[in-house]
Amino acid sequence: MEVRIDNLSKHFPGVKGAPVVKAVDQMNFTIPDGKLVGLLGPSGCGKSTTLYMIAGLHKPTEGKIWFGDRDVTDVPAENRGIGLVFQNYALYPHFTVRQNITFPLENVRPKLPKEEMEQIAQEVANLVDIGNLLDRLPKQLSGGQQQRVAIARALSKRPQVLLLDEPLSNLDARLRLQTREEIRRIQRDTKVTTIFVTHDQEEAMSISDSIVVMRRGVVHQIDAPQVVYEEPVDLFVAKFLGSPAINIFDGELKDGKVLLHGNVYHEGLKSAGTFDLKDERIYDVAVAGGYQGTKAQYFTSLGVEYVEKVEETAKEEEPKEKGNFFKNFSEKMKAKKKSQFVPNVIEGELTLHSLHTALSFGGYRPSFGDFEEEVGKFIVEAGVNRNVKIGVRPEAFTLDKNENPAIEIEVLFIEHIGRDITIVANVLGQKHRIRVIIPAEERHKVKDKVIKVYPKRFYLFDLDGSRIL
Ligand SMILES: Nc1ncnc2c1ncn2[C@@H]1O[C@H](COP(=O)(O)OP(=O)(O)OP(=O)(O)O)[C@@H](O)[C@H]1O
Ligand SMILES: [Mg+2]
Repeated sequence: MEVRIDNLSKHFPGVKGAPVVKAVDQMNFTIPDGKLVGLLGPSGCGKSTTLYMIAGLHKPTEGKIWFGDRDVTDVPAENRGIGLVFQNYALYPHFTVRQNITFPLENVRPKLPKEEMEQIAQEVANLVDIGNLLDRLPKQLSGGQQQRVAIARALSKRPQVLLLDEPLSNLDARLRLQTREEIRRIQRDTKVTTIFVTHDQEEAMSISDSIVVMRRGVVHQIDAPQVVYEEPVDLFVAKFLGSPAINIFDGELKDGKVLLHGNVYHEGLKSAGTFDLKDERIYDVAVAGGYQGTKAQYFTSLGVEYVEKVEETAKEEEPKEKGNFFKNFSEKMKAKKKSQFVPNVIEGELTLHSLHTALSFGGYRPSFGDFEEEVGKFIVEAGVNRNVKIGVRPEAFTLDKNENPAIEIEVLFIEHIGRDITIVANVLGQKHRIRVIIPAEERHKVKDKVIKVYPKRFYLFDLDGSRIL
């Protein structure tokens, strides 16, 4: 069964005057019939909310959910033909495994004969490899076995769509690995369209046909695991996928050239525009992030005098109606309302950092990185000289010279992971820590404390996180 999410949103009212929580915001994606899709993203990004809307446990604020040609947006959960598995297996402790598995079948109308229910229980139990444990109680099973009972239960009604919300997070590392392979096998055998929620990128990479990478209720990228890894659409995706994480260097875009430690990494970019940090759109960013002050207070707090410039809209002197003072006065007020506020800098130099600090005092909550990303959009749009980020995956370095400029690093220590070794180092002269993975046979080349490494491949990200190269 194909599952299609069409402009789906879920907004929760803010508690105690806090702004509305856009848990899911105008999401679109399609899961092809019979595929396993991983919903991946950091804690709180809206994965469970998305899943519960698909399940019918949450009513969307906006948008539609389609199962094939059927609009299920208003169909109650029990009539959607879904199987749901949660993180904590939620088995009935006093029921045997068999009773737990047949429980969802009890409500099937017309009522199924007992023998048929037991036959189904045996089949799905065999499928998840617990066929010999049907008479046990949940407490007599290991965590991994309990989770498989939960999956068997979800499969017992032959769902058209299987929804799994972090089904492995309560298992130890080894069981996690086993159970995830098991889920993959079961999914292949049954060909049931499956959505697998996880915040573990490795889990998502290993199990999914394609991955939906989410952040703050918004989809960043949907692609096959390898594509998401090799061709991330932006800095967020690049940083979220990969362990150890991608190394990020603070470069500079100056007069069209991308520079890192004075070396040119790329040329020919547009960077000749101008952008004024007094741009009033920054105030709107501030307010969206919780800033409490008025626009005048905002500019004053930045050391900018905020003067009112009245547009002379009521210029033509109309003959005053005698004795109608109030009418004339209100006309005058209306004219004044059309006035513009114009910021004048009094002192000091505005930087993104000083702006962020000033806003934080006024109740703005997002981190500097988030602020930089938001305002970065305007700066990128203006096309000015600016900071950019150069990303190099740990395995994308070589010790051999190539066409890319070298990065000098100071080796701190070396980790052995399987066959490869990981050099943990500081970028020379900086506290910035990086990881470089090289094959064990090149170990002998790391003789000195300070060495040169060359990126075989690098990514270029703009100030707002978008990918340039
Ligand atoms: N019933 C609710 N009322 C208000 N806010 C909610 C509610 N449920 C979820 N949220 C908020 O919506 C956002 C998304 O929550 P959700 O549970 O979907 O995240 P998640 O991606 O599943 O996170 P995790 O990985 O931690 O399970 C969060 O900011 C959360 O606080
Ligand atoms: Mg969740």
